[in-house]
Amino acid sequence: MDVVRIFDTTLRDGEQSPGFSMNTEEKIRMAKQLAALNVDIIEAGFPISSKGDLEAVQAVAKEVRSVPIAALARAKKHDIDAAIESLKPAASSRLHIFLATSDLHLQVKLNMTREQALEAIESMIRYGRQHVGEVEFSAEDAGRTDIGYLCQVCKVAVEAGATILNLPDTVGYAVPEEYGEMFRRVRAYLDDDPKVTLSAHCHDDLGLAVANSLAAVRAGVRQIECTINGIGERAGNASLEEIAVALAVRKENLGAKTNIELSQLFPASRLLTEITGAQVAPNKAVVGANAFAHEAGIHQDGIIKNPLTYEIISPETVGVPSRSLVLGKHSGRNALRTTLKDLGYDASDAELAEVYRRVTALADQSKTVSMRNIVAIAHEVLRRGAGPVAAEATSAA
Ligand code: KIV
Ligand code: ZN
Repeated sequence: MDVVRIFDTTLRDGEQSPGFSMNTEEKIRMAKQLAALNVDIIEAGFPISSKGDLEAVQAVAKEVRSVPIAALARAKKHDIDAAIESLKPAASSRLHIFLATSDLHLQVKLNMTREQALEAIESMIRYGRQHVGEVEFSAEDAGRTDIGYLCQVCKVAVEAGATILNLPDTVGYAVPEEYGEMFRRVRAYLDDDPKVTLSAHCHDDLGLAVANSLAAVRAGVRQIECTINGIGERAGNASLEEIAVALAVRKENLGAKTNIELSQLFPASRLLTEITGAQVAPNKAVVGANAFAHEAGIHQDGIIKNPLTYEIISPETVGVPSRSLVLGKHSGRNALRTTLKDLGYDASDAELAEVYRRVTALADQSKTVSMRNIVAIAHEVLRRGAGPVAAEATSAA
């Protein structure tokens, strides 16, 4: 089965959004977790943006040897020089050059003609290729670019030496069929060139980033750019965990899978939360605190009889801690508080006391309490105080 490569941009597109900035040490910690997750490439930063970011990319490149490292640059020589400099320590590297191609961006933002943009793309990719073995080109705002011109842009980029063509829906405007069709047109124009990997990069302004990315996969795209917890500009980027799980659970339907180590998804999500202090919504797919909590009695009954009744993926598969706690007279509240925190619940003292009372009552009957029981109890107790708890959870630093 075909593999869709996962290009993680948590440390670049994710990090550049308000509330998510990371220092070098935090970027290294996160990059090591991304390596454990087995992403195919890590975009570590945008080196021209600051000296600190250039140094952070260098540090990530030094510390993480098992995954190729990418650095972003506009189609400008001094941007590319900064990116080249930042990638020098990398065991394997990719230069990621971008230029906007929609008429709106060309006219309003860049004050360039279409022809001038083609010249810049050509010359800057050629320049980059002299220094870095692999070059990716992104046509910023591809989703709103005239398709005929976009095809021309792609041809020029490939002839100049780019082997990965990323066509972002920069403003999160596309709908799935349309986004997939754009890739079909470009693929046909390039005669399905086997040397070229097409890449999707979607933003979530209409809540369609994951759906658009999967539509792109159906259209032959074999790289997806995404971020942990879906962080990124405005409404965020496509969420890595949702894409990885969708391509695992529905691989037959989608015709492709990823190399992602699913059991590292929850730890990656938690680490990012810990570093940035920004919690994920409780109902967030895959990694939200309620993603595996079953509330309705009928659902709980079904889950006890057979989890397949209401779960399409088990919490253990995505790395939700699966140890069973032996809670009873001898185990403490601190262990329970830690477990709840691991699960993403931020319980007040009163809520902790109530969860503890119920868990120990259950333990008295059945000796061990499974993580599934704890999730169900915590969900029930914290839900009753939903107002203040939700506020605490979102403001926790
Ligand atoms: O959204 C976008 O267009 C980008 C490019 C720089 C790849 O992030
Ligand atoms: Zn982006």
